[in-house]
Amino acid sequence: MNHFIGIDTSTTATKALLINEKGDVLSVASNEYGYETPHPLWSEQSPLLWWDATKQSIKDVLGKTKIDANTVKGIGLTGQMHGLVLLDENGEVLRPSILWNDQRTAAECDDMRQKLGKEKLIQITGNDALTGFTAPKILWVQKNEPEIWKKARHILLPKDYVRYKLTNSFAMDKADGAGTILFDLAKRDWSAEVLSTFKIPAEYLPKTYEGIESTGELTQEVAKELGLPTGIPVFAGGGDQAASAVGTGAVRAGVVSISLGTSGVVFATTDSPSIEPNGRLHAFCHSVPNKWHLMGVMLSAAGSLRWHRDTFAPTAEYEKLIDATKNIPAGSDGLFFLPYLTGERTPHPDPLARAAFVGLTIRHTLPHLTKAVLEGVSFGLRDSFELMKSAGLKNISQVRVTGGGARSPIWRQILADILNAEVVTVNTTEGAAYGAALLAGTGSGAFRSVEEACDATIQITGSVKPSDNQKSYENSYSLYRDLYPSLKPTFDGVA
Ligand code: XUL
Repeated sequence: MNHFIGIDTSTTATKALLINEKGDVLSVASNEYGYETPHPLWSEQSPLLWWDATKQSIKDVLGKTKIDANTVKGIGLTGQMHGLVLLDENGEVLRPSILWNDQRTAAECDDMRQKLGKEKLIQITGNDALTGFTAPKILWVQKNEPEIWKKARHILLPKDYVRYKLTNSFAMDKADGAGTILFDLAKRDWSAEVLSTFKIPAEYLPKTYEGIESTGELTQEVAKELGLPTGIPVFAGGGDQAASAVGTGAVRAGVVSISLGTSGVVFATTDSPSIEPNGRLHAFCHSVPNKWHLMGVMLSAAGSLRWHRDTFAPTAEYEKLIDATKNIPAGSDGLFFLPYLTGERTPHPDPLARAAFVGLTIRHTLPHLTKAVLEGVSFGLRDSFELMKSAGLKNISQVRVTGGGARSPIWRQILADILNAEVVTVNTTEGAAYGAALLAGTGSGAFRSVEEACDATIQITGSVKPSDNQKSYENSYSLYRDLYPSLKPTFDGVA
């Protein structure tokens, strides 16, 4: 039987995952690393960490099984999006990568809006300029590190640096291409107009590929070091959000996926390049050929619950903490939590936004606070849901929820009530790395299409429908929506 490897170059670790041609996961290995914060708001990582962790993870994942290495027929890549990797003419790293969660580029985002015009930027790329994206990071290097920019010849994203080391070729997938905001979203390729406006030479950017296309082959030297045969194709794969959507089967219009990890992501596949007119949702290419997606990103989702637990009940298990909310009524007796612990992206692209409990009285107890956190995060996700509806997504038939927070049936019920939608769980838990392996499997011909790969491997394991609490949550949600605009002057003052 043939086998495929998915590799996820995430912010905290590189994971390798091995599947067979039926999509069964045979082994998973992961090697961790940290990232640096050399100044407040900065976030950087050495690309060499990714390469070392990739090699180790591939060796580990193969070592855990006894499969014949000659049966590995493809490798698919995924990873953290938006991180800027700059290489010189010899392919050497010029500076640490500036990561997706780096917030230094507010001035460059303003420059982009001014030079191109915000409307035009959104019309071409599908997106407003946000500090997380790649283009403003390039402008920052041009302005602040001209000697580095002078030597730069190649612009890559994190997983594409790993691809370069594996195959010796420069390439990128369309999802990550769109996440640079140097892309013409509808054409699924670099925008000559955006590149020339910001003086970024087109030849610095790699060719882009659909997720299931081969971008090169494992070099002899690397193959030998990893104990794999030479010439295994390395497929384009996708940015972690698009690959993760493949890994949970969110590949058709009408199916929305929500990831309840540290951050919360609401992801909807579209058959055409839909845009939220004010750029409040991200609009990128999907890693499914000729599909696009809309995405809302909440920076502290399950991360809010972790903060709450660590701060107020450090010894409590999550399950017990959440179980204790069972008798608290919907709406937490008038208590609200605003989940902007690390600023926010969607629906308020505001690094200065802050979290808050609003409505505390002497009657409120720890379980009220816990429930308010679960509800506040769910209201924040509903904001993205509403933006998707205003971007034209009328028929949301199902919400697939994944990530650590999805393990709680109580939280899933709150989510179903607040979104007024059926919330389902699926059998796959390996997210982006699994999606990357399925993309490699599809590219190698084990499945006829990404949709077929998902149908063959991903099953629904549970479903919750909205309960009687849904109506009262409608009232709470309209109160919740007023909180950010009312508190915004205070947040600015505090900052
Ligand atoms: C997506 C995003 C994050 C990173 C983290 O827009 O910024 O999901 O990809 O991995």
